[in-house]
Formats: sequence, structure tokens, C-alpha cells
Amino acid sequence: MTAAAFSQPPADKGRLRSILGQFATGVTVVAAGGETPCGMTANSFTSVSLDPPVILICLTRDSELCEAVLREGCFAISVLAAGQEDVARYFANHSRPRGPEEFATVGWSPGPGTGAPVLDDVVAWFDCALVTSHDGGDHEIFLGSVLASGAEPQRDALLFHRGGFSRSPHRDVAPRSHEARTPSLARLGKSDDRQ
Ligand SMILES: Cc1cc2nc3c(=O)[nH]c(=O)nc-3n(C[C@H](O)[C@H](O)[C@H](O)COP(=O)(O)O)c2cc1C
Repeated sequence: MTAAAFSQPPADKGRLRSILGQFATGVTVVAAGGETPCGMTANSFTSVSLDPPVILICLTRDSELCEAVLREGCFAISVLAAGQEDVARYFANHSRPRGPEEFATVGWSPGPGTGAPVLDDVVAWFDCALVTSHDGGDHEIFLGSVLASGAEPQRDALLFHRGGFSRSPHRDVAPRSHEARTPSLARLGKSDDRQ
């Protein structure tokens, strides 16, 4: 599908953004690149398929991250915890440092399957190989197969609604963590020999 397929009368972008903002979401940081990683705050994350395990993220074409995901063929998604609003604001700030400095002030470790940065202290993370990308107007839509994932369900999540941040209502859950490498990706026609 090409950009022409989306042509519409010019939209009132501010009004559309405000209407879209009625949809409450979690907040993620998507990151790619091993030695010199780059990242971005994104709430377009969604699950697509459990079997095979596939997730989706939409990234603006103007961003370094969009290029990096296409170049590296992989990325990691960190789902931010309630106390990480400053991290969300940092990776949404176009004036943040770039190159080796971009990740210098945040704690992270390389994802076990791809080496893409997974942030410390998050609620959940997904380490993904790029499966396909699609034209999404001014964004690129990426489908990723989940090679490895983990969660800390006792942490509350950061939420985004009507242009502001808040935290998920606290629920007591058993203090245990989940971590998994996903099974064979044969159904996607991909191989993963790192499991
Ligand atoms: C809560 C929140 C969610 C966002 N979600 C997305 C998203 O899903 N995709 C996207 O391209 N930009 C999203 N943005 C905007 C980018 O984070 C922001 O434009 C960032 O500066 C882009 O990276 P760049 O500076 O490298 O271009 C979001 C911003 C915020 C605050």
C-alpha cells in the first residue's frame, strides 16, 4: 500500500490529536542499535498475535529510530512503570542528546535476543526481530516477532490519557517476575538459534 492510498482532505491535526487522546494507553520506550542505541517514547504499541508471538509499533518516519529499526532488523520495547514519567518525557524530547550520550543517563541492558536496549525498572519488556514494515502515512508500521520477554507485575504502569501522564490504579499482586524466551519462530519462516 502506498501513501497515496491514504490521501484524504487535509485534517485538522490538533483536533484529531485531541480526539485520539481520549484513548488511554500505557507508555513504552522503543529502542534499537547495540553500540550506539537510539530510542523514542511511543504509545502505539499493541499486541497482534500470541501464536506466533507478534507485536506492533508505529514510528514517525522522520526519526532516527525508524531508520535504525530498518537498518538493524530488530528492536526492544520497554513498558514504563508509574515512576518513569521523566524517562517518558526525556525520550519524547526532540532536543535530547544524540549518539553515545542519548542513553548515558538511563539504566539499561542489552536484550538477550537482539542486544537492543531494555530499560531498567520497567513493568515489562519485549525483545523483537523485525518481521515486516508497512506504510502508515507519516509513520512506519513495524511488526516484530517476540524473541524474549519479561514482566514485573508488582510494579504499577505509567499511563497516558488526554495528553497527560498518570499511574495505573494499584492492585496487589504476588511479587514474582516472569521472563521467557519464546518458542520456535518457524511459523513466521524465521529462525532463532539463540534460545
Ligand atoms: C506518550 C507519548 C507517546 C508517543 N507515541 C509515539 C508513537 O507511538 N510513535 C511516534 O512516532 N511518536 C510518538 N511520540 C512522539 C515521540 O516520542 C517524539 O516525537 C520523539 O521526539 C520522536 O523522536 P525523535 O526526536 O528522534 O524524532 C509519543 C510521545 C509521547 C509523549
